[in-house]
Amino acid sequence: MPDIDHIGICVHDLDAALCAWRDGLGFRVADVCDLADRGLRVAFLDAGSSRVELLASSGPDSEIAGFLARRGEGMHHVAFRVADLDVALAAARSAGMMVLPGAGRPGAHGGRVAFLHPKSANGVLVELVEDHQAAAG
Ligand code: CO
Repeated sequence: MPDIDHIGICVHDLDAALCAWRDGLGFRVADVCDLADRGLRVAFLDAGSSRVELLASSGPDSEIAGFLARRGEGMHHVAFRVADLDVALAAARSAGMMVLPGAGRPGAHGGRVAFLHPKSANGVLVELVEDHQAAAG
């Protein structure tokens, strides 16, 4: 049964967003990273056994530029932790779900990730994150 790994929220300004989420809501910042190849600057906030991921663009061709332009700030995706990404993707594909290009690349914390098209999951962009610690141990 998949656990929620994190909830992704797109923001225009990461520092301004941290004022609300860290200072206003009391979340602890676990880490802030630049994902230059994806045009993103990302902050992870601890939320019990899961996290909140705040995503901001660091350049004009970021992965979320289109989303921010069309929809503005807000909920972007929900990420579920799976033990084995290949098994999870095979199950999703055999249920007729559409896997987005780039599946299997490393995510922000080294584990492999994949995204499923929102049309496949009732309008929700689903990210699957392989639990590489569980896989290694
Ligand atoms: Co994510």
